Amino acid sequence: MTTPTIELKPSSNPLSDAERQAILASPGFGRHFTDHMVTIKWTEGRGWHDAELVPYAPLSIDPANMTLHYAQTIFEGMKAYRQPDGTVATFRPEANAERFQASARRMAMPELPAELFIEACDALIRQDSAWVPSSGEASLYLRPFMFATEVGLGVRPANEFLFMVIASPAGAYFAGGVKPVSVWLSEEYVRAVKGGTGAAKTGGNYAASLVAQAQAASHGCDQVVWLDAVEHRWIEEMGGMNLYFVYGDRIVTPELTGSLLPGITRDSLLTIARDLGYTAEEGRISTEDWQRDNENGTLTEVFACGTAAVITPVGSVKSEKASWTQGDGEPGEVTMKLRKALLDLQTGHRADTHGWMHPL
Ligand code: PLP
Ligand code: COI
Repeated sequence: MTTPTIELKPSSNPLSDAERQAILASPGFGRHFTDHMVTIKWTEGRGWHDAELVPYAPLSIDPANMTLHYAQTIFEGMKAYRQPDGTVATFRPEANAERFQASARRMAMPELPAELFIEACDALIRQDSAWVPSSGEASLYLRPFMFATEVGLGVRPANEFLFMVIASPAGAYFAGGVKPVSVWLSEEYVRAVKGGTGAAKTGGNYAASLVAQAQAASHGCDQVVWLDAVEHRWIEEMGGMNLYFVYGDRIVTPELTGSLLPGITRDSLLTIARDLGYTAEEGRISTEDWQRDNENGTLTEVFACGTAAVITPVGSVKSEKASWTQGDGEPGEVTMKLRKALLDLQTGHRADTHGWMHPL
């Protein structure tokens, strides 16, 4: 089967410069979408076909579309950043392409070739490059996704899928910029078990998380921290971010157990931290370790990391049994140093020594 090339069918009616500028002045997160989208079909026996870049528009979906019933759907999140010379680059898109393939395997979906995934993102960014914010840490968030399009109610892998990419200008994920978040340790609900879908970026994981997120909010917390599903004590991750624990000049992130998402920011920070002279490790941290080491002062900072949220400090922790302020509740020095190094790299203000930037 051959890999299709993307046919360009540009919009005859994009937003005006003034309308776009008004959105870019305060984009928020995931609220506005650019003028175009990419669609590529997959059909059993035929493979990938009909790759198109078309005007952004609603889809028409049959009520018996399998995704609406059985949630055979996966997605990715990555960002395009304006570089100092005015060009645009994405960060580690091959890592997103590979994770998309891993998610597809877990969800019994076809694997999109990595080069087609990257070309689809590039084509959309090139077409809508005016939507890439021009300053600071603002970026264009890319949302590649795939879902079953077969119509029917039989429970089995679908024989038709649609891959799409849409894009949305992104300011800060959390309103208010770098402000420490408060977290709720979820002891009642679990996100994922070994053998389940926790390591895949599939919609159902997020649907299942919402009740715990609402519970966190009812306790006055911004975000949920998920614990392991067996002992309910080992820290796994947050709703859309991985976690790092800072012990002076040693940083530790929960190891990949198969039930948490292998974050690309998490992986990049293991390397960036070592570049900056820190010791960076994967390990196991329990809720007891967290509370005790915070109290005895050895655990100096905790932060969350992910594409959408970049690096966000954790300022306070709450559970059914306890609550505490993390450190002094303010953004820590290591957290902010790593945050700056990551953003400097992504925005072209720090040498790309690992070949992670993908210029367009
Ligand atoms: N964990 C979950 C559940 C996520 O949804 C995300 C976001 O993609 C992450 C972690 C962080 O992953 P990444 O750094 O690849 O964005
Ligand atoms: C991302 O960081 O790309 C995410 O997917 C997190 C969230 C918006 C689901």
